[in-house]
Amino acid sequence: MQDGLRVLFVEDEPLVRQATAQSLELAGFSVLALPSAEAAMPHLSPEFPGVLVTDVRLTGASGLDLLQHCRNAAPGVPVILVTGHGDITMAVQAMREGAYDFIEKPFGADRLTETVRRALERRALELENRALRRELAGPAAGTRIIGRSPAIEQVRMLVANVAATDVPVMINGETGTGKELVARSLHALSPRHHAPFVALNCGAVPEAIFESEMFGHEAGAFTGAGKRRVGKLEHASGGTLFLDEIESMPLALQVKLLRVLQEGTLERLGSNASIAIDVRIVAAAKGDMEALVAQGTFRQDLYYRLNVVTIPLPPLRERREDIVPLFEHFMLVAAVRYQRPAPILSELQRQALMQRAWPGNVRELRNAADRLVLGVPEGGARADALDDSTPLKERMEHYERAVIADTLARTGGAVSQAADLLQVGKATLYDKIKRYGL
Ligand SMILES: Nc1ncnc2c1ncn2[C@@H]1O[C@H](COP(=O)(O)OP(=O)(O)OP(=O)(O)O)[C@@H](O)[C@H]1O
Ligand SMILES: [Mg+2]
Repeated sequence: MQDGLRVLFVEDEPLVRQATAQSLELAGFSVLALPSAEAAMPHLSPEFPGVLVTDVRLTGASGLDLLQHCRNAAPGVPVILVTGHGDITMAVQAMREGAYDFIEKPFGADRLTETVRRALERRALELENRALRRELAGPAAGTRIIGRSPAIEQVRMLVANVAATDVPVMINGETGTGKELVARSLHALSPRHHAPFVALNCGAVPEAIFESEMFGHEAGAFTGAGKRRVGKLEHASGGTLFLDEIESMPLALQVKLLRVLQEGTLERLGSNASIAIDVRIVAAAKGDMEALVAQGTFRQDLYYRLNVVTIPLPPLRERREDIVPLFEHFMLVAAVRYQRPAPILSELQRQALMQRAWPGNVRELRNAADRLVLGVPEGGARADALDDSTPLKERMEHYERAVIADTLARTGGAVSQAADLLQVGKATLYDKIKRYGL
């Protein structure tokens, strides 16, 4: 297969072949023009990244034979048929058999290039979908860091550089900027990736049980300590311990953690036996750690120990060039997950996305992409679209649409599950989904 080849064009009439190939090349496509179906067949494989344009009437195997061959040898490759004048019935039949589109002779160059462009877009989307499906099933599932801003390039570079080492990393950023994702990719790209990645949210564990969560305890170490329990640090042995919201770690525990990190050993509560630990520590913080250190709410010595390498994650509003790539990525992931088609964004939609403030950062963006794929209107039920003069029937429909959309979002798009939740028949629900364009 020729590298970068995008259009495979089959036409047995030399002059037409040359002229059409030329007009496609002028439109910017790389073209391989061939005189027969037989000559085209070896180029068609499931990996072929382009589209096939073929005349129907050929000497030897026909364009329809080639369509059949393509359906088997390269499913997913869009086939555009060029038909003679008046061959509509046959063309429609070919569409039923899986042709992407047909063009009637004589045609203008614009008509062809426009059709090819659309078909290529679809092909690219399908290949991306396939790659994503493979990735979602793979071991590093969901640890890819998307974005093209200089800040994200820098993050990817830092991750690649330090993943293989054991140096402690501190990730800093607002809510939803991707701190946990970065921690997970550090783990996934490290030699420790077969061992566990253990996350501990330092802000969510009550102080009273923090120590036992972190270091574990022996049976009977304190009232209520029924069975022996292995702590997070020990559990993460050989792997990575992710200390989320490190800024909320109580001071008393900061001392203990520091000692463990310095000595490389720990004792479970109620035991004097020291256990060697081998964990890579990755910490995440939301606020300004330096300020906390200056205030004395975070120990400086621990801070220096955790913060050997800092990975800063700027908020989305400071890297707007990442918005569209991230959004498109999340739409694809949602499309694969919910088995829906991935919408293609209009220029207007892109602009609108780039202008939003995104206080919830990437997480908020991801939710918006999910909603778009599922057809849920932004902001759920929009009461402000209605006013006092809106008839009751319309208000009811408005409400009904919102309820159905919300339920579908909850079931991940599964209609039968949504029908159960709403206690309506599946057929009725399908009707309504169609009527409301969900
Ligand atoms: N650069 C990125 N590429 C791909 N996905 C991303 C990126 N940044 C964030 N995400 C996704 O956005 C969501 C939120 O990210 P994550 O949970 O890592 O944020 P966080 O900083 O830990 O947020 P919080 O502070 O609220 O815990 C996740 O689904 C994550 O996979
Ligand atoms: Mg997080």
